[in-house]
Amino acid sequence: MPANSLEQVRNLCMRRGFVFPGSAVYGGVASFWDYGPLGVELLNNIKKAWWQDTIYTRNDMEGLDAAVLMSRKVWQHSGHEATFSDPLVDCKACRSRFRADDLVGAWIGKVRQEDVRRADTWLRHFQAHERVCAAMPEPLRTAGVQIMQEIQAAHEIWWPLGRLFLKFKDAGDEAAARKMVDDEDARRANQRMKSAQEAHKQFIEQNATAFEFACFKAKEIECPKCGSKEFTEPRNFNLMFQSHVGPVAADKGTDEEKAARVYLRPETAQGIFMNFAHVQRAMARKIPFGVAQIGKAFRNEITPGNFIFRTREFEQMEIEFFIKPPQFVKEGEKNDQQWHEEWVEQRFNWWLRYATSPSATLEDRDATAARFRARAQTPDELAHYAKATTDIEYLFPGSLGWGEIEGVANRTDFDLTAHSNDIPEEDLKRLKLEPNKDSTVKLDYFDPDAKARYIPWVIEPSAGATRAMLTFLCEAYHDEVVTEPTKQQIDQIKSDAAMIRKNAEKKIKEAQKEIAAGREAKHDPAKVEAFLNVLDETVARLPASLTELLTALDHEGAQNLEPVKKFRPPTEKLVEDCTRTVLRLHPALAPVKLAVFPLKKNKPELVELAQAIKERFQRHFRVVYDDSAGIGRLYRRQDEIGTPFCITVDFESLEDGTVTVRERDSMEQERVKIDDLPSYLLPRLQGE
Ligand code: GAP
Repeated sequence: MPANSLEQVRNLCMRRGFVFPGSAVYGGVASFWDYGPLGVELLNNIKKAWWQDTIYTRNDMEGLDAAVLMSRKVWQHSGHEATFSDPLVDCKACRSRFRADDLVGAWIGKVRQEDVRRADTWLRHFQAHERVCAAMPEPLRTAGVQIMQEIQAAHEIWWPLGRLFLKFKDAGDEAAARKMVDDEDARRANQRMKSAQEAHKQFIEQNATAFEFACFKAKEIECPKCGSKEFTEPRNFNLMFQSHVGPVAADKGTDEEKAARVYLRPETAQGIFMNFAHVQRAMARKIPFGVAQIGKAFRNEITPGNFIFRTREFEQMEIEFFIKPPQFVKEGEKNDQQWHEEWVEQRFNWWLRYATSPSATLEDRDATAARFRARAQTPDELAHYAKATTDIEYLFPGSLGWGEIEGVANRTDFDLTAHSNDIPEEDLKRLKLEPNKDSTVKLDYFDPDAKARYIPWVIEPSAGATRAMLTFLCEAYHDEVVTEPTKQQIDQIKSDAAMIRKNAEKKIKEAQKEIAAGREAKHDPAKVEAFLNVLDETVARLPASLTELLTALDHEGAQNLEPVKKFRPPTEKLVEDCTRTVLRLHPALAPVKLAVFPLKKNKPELVELAQAIKERFQRHFRVVYDDSAGIGRLYRRQDEIGTPFCITVDFESLEDGTVTVRERDSMEQERVKIDDLPSYLLPRLQGE
């Protein structure tokens, strides 16, 4: 099983030097992270794997590293200055800040989580929607209210039939259920209901901003933190960080300030569009070809969070793949849709390849594959420049759930046209663009085969490097029981847990009395109860849940409970003796590839040989030498950071020139001749 909470991964990352909170000396600054010694290795390896697979192994790609700061005009003509924004609201009661569309999306989705088979839930939901429509300005108000009334009328007819259908289905009476489906009245009612719901969906999609606004005006949305329904009006908040080139004395918004203004790039893509013609000419490239770039991007996100999933400074790995416009595609050549599908497939396979350790069983591979999916964006999700986008998503642990790790977009000729001068009226109209009077060039291409000039179309696979790091860490993280605890040890845990429960129940009663008397209580009864439930559930799954015991003891409801303090040290010892945390990272991504240990650190001959082996490999990849603990503990330390191979030098090594090589996932050990180590290790480290 991979990680079952982001907390596990985050704890490991902080403890073992993958990721540290930014500016920690000054109390930190929210959602900025520093990548530590192991984090930078992992991140570099991810970027290296992407670069090699994207550029070296293909014949149609070039690399680029464009400047982070570009002319402000780039962002004006790309559409970012006007539209790269999120709607923001503040709760007036608790001052928490939210993305308005997140709150509205959660409110719309709520009915799906509630019992959709209950007529009253539907009705309440649609009546609330009607109140929202009534808060919209005319003519949307009349149109919206009419749609909602039609839904409720259709529901009144459909619901008695629908309920009967579900009753037959639940009772397993397929024949009766099918008869109902075939019934003319039922079919008509169902159709009317479907059409009304479709009209409702389209109405929200087409009037998303007005609908969002009205949700808050009608006071339907509750603050997830404090439950208040009083919010500030939604206002658009541009996500680009601003700075200035040179000293600027002028106030914001003045001509002088605007002339000096620059933005930290929110995507690396625009740097590639700026260099399309340079790369094409310098490298004598013919369409189709692509340009790849890795680099930092910055977004002043309203709700960053989930560790390094959404941050304000992050790294992207982007490809802009330039192809023929549809009207120039000849028979037998791929069109934009086919290129789009091909890139989705290529990129999806890349993620699966590096998410899987070569030692994984078929069953493990299937389980990993089930945690990745490719999902086509709905029309209302599409960015202003995209004809179609497929998101590659990963099922992150805990409440985060499915999250986008890469978007593969068909950007058509939008960007190159937007940055070009001299564009015909019909193309500007088609792409909803204004003429670009700032650009000095037309970013077109002379196709020698077609003997024509055109602006290429673009397929863009855009992945997050830091988000990839979180994905691979979550998938690689495993807590494993390596030595089964004895029955006696399990019984001891159960008896300790029972003692904790007895004591905690007493504390709950005492706290309840204090609260009833209006006094402050030492314990929060609800939190202690929640802790006991977690503890019971964990103990019931022993020995498989052994490592989770420590997480259970960290529960906030366990604080200040004396028996918990007593229980912790022996539990820690047992967990350490019986379990290991292992990162089953693909060897190509592992931060440290090889660890070398002498069996005894006070034997200079062993130390010398171990050091010599380290030196032999350290020019090629990261190798560490360690003699600071017993071999068993050294193995565990390396497992926890995903080191694929450990080498132990012992007395036999001095006699016959062999060493013990231990593989991380299987923990199997083999004697290998020191001279054979390169041919033994190198293919395995490449994942062959
Ligand atoms: N050029 C297209 C573009 O930037 P995007 O979907 O906004 O598209 C692409 O971003 C990828 O960048 C995402 O799939 C994600 O992996 C990563 N990404 C976007 N915003 C991020 C953030 N705030 N923190 C970390 N990664 C982010």
